[in-house]
Amino acid sequence: MQKVVVFSQLDAEILARLQQDYHVVQINPKLGDVQQQLLEHAQDADGMIGAGRVLNATNLHTARRLKVISSVSVGYDNYDVDYLTKKGIQLCHTPHVLTESTADLAFTLLMSVARQVGHLDQWTKTGQWQRTVGAAQFGQDIFAKTLGIIGLGHIGAAIARRGFYGFNMNILYHNRRAKPEFASSLNAQYCELNDLLQRADFVVLAVDLNADSNALIGAKELGLMQKHAVLVNIARGAVIDEQALIEALKSRQIFAAGLDVYQHEPLQQSELFNLDNVVTLPHVGSATLSTRKKMAELAYQNLVEALAGRTPAYVVKP
Ligand code: DGY
Repeated sequence: MQKVVVFSQLDAEILARLQQDYHVVQINPKLGDVQQQLLEHAQDADGMIGAGRVLNATNLHTARRLKVISSVSVGYDNYDVDYLTKKGIQLCHTPHVLTESTADLAFTLLMSVARQVGHLDQWTKTGQWQRTVGAAQFGQDIFAKTLGIIGLGHIGAAIARRGFYGFNMNILYHNRRAKPEFASSLNAQYCELNDLLQRADFVVLAVDLNADSNALIGAKELGLMQKHAVLVNIARGAVIDEQALIEALKSRQIFAAGLDVYQHEPLQQSELFNLDNVVTLPHVGSATLSTRKKMAELAYQNLVEALAGRTPAYVVKP
């Protein structure tokens, strides 16, 4: 029987299906050091499935016959793709099924931050609503404003559609390559990064994390944004220099930020927690019941195909 290592929580139904056909071992932080468990079980594993762990030479060098790692995520920046390729291990991921949920969350953050929803909720609940509201409680308009999207992949495009069709927004985008098809359908305009930062009322990061996008937004870039501008990050924490963002929020250099991702996750202690112009979510872009089910199903299919010696639908290309 082939051995499958489950390295994070997994949908119960998918787990049960795996247990019928494979020898399944689950990595469990309650049972001790996770790195040690990974090293031990990687030795004779044929496949691995899960999300949210860094997997590279440090915890996979014992693997002798590992054929596939099936990630329950679209992003794969936490895997050492070069190392896996060298070892002949296929890396699979789950694109498309989470596009709309993640775009919904980007807009949820954008709207909450623009209208200070988190802050005003606390303000109301703590009895500060004594008379009428004042300028400190006012937000930013969204309708017909300029939305700048950095990274116009599937998720970026889904965010652009929400802005264009739902809110009559003027769409700017920055991407590795211009996508003229969006110019015609969404009236979207390709911009250089600095130009987009200077012109957008809302900047949304939807870019993959790679060598080019690492620390893409630092003090200089934040300094280009307008004082009333809002920054939303649903991509990866490392795309922003988090300390520079904290300074920009403290000094009100920008109006506010909505964050779903961080340099270090889970975010346990942070100066961000003391700021009233930031909304912090715990990396929940794709976290709806039905989308997480679809992701688990797709990851299962990828794994099973690879273990059967067939080519899975979504293999990451090195
Ligand atoms: C992904 O799939 O990469 C998203 O960040 C959700 O975890």
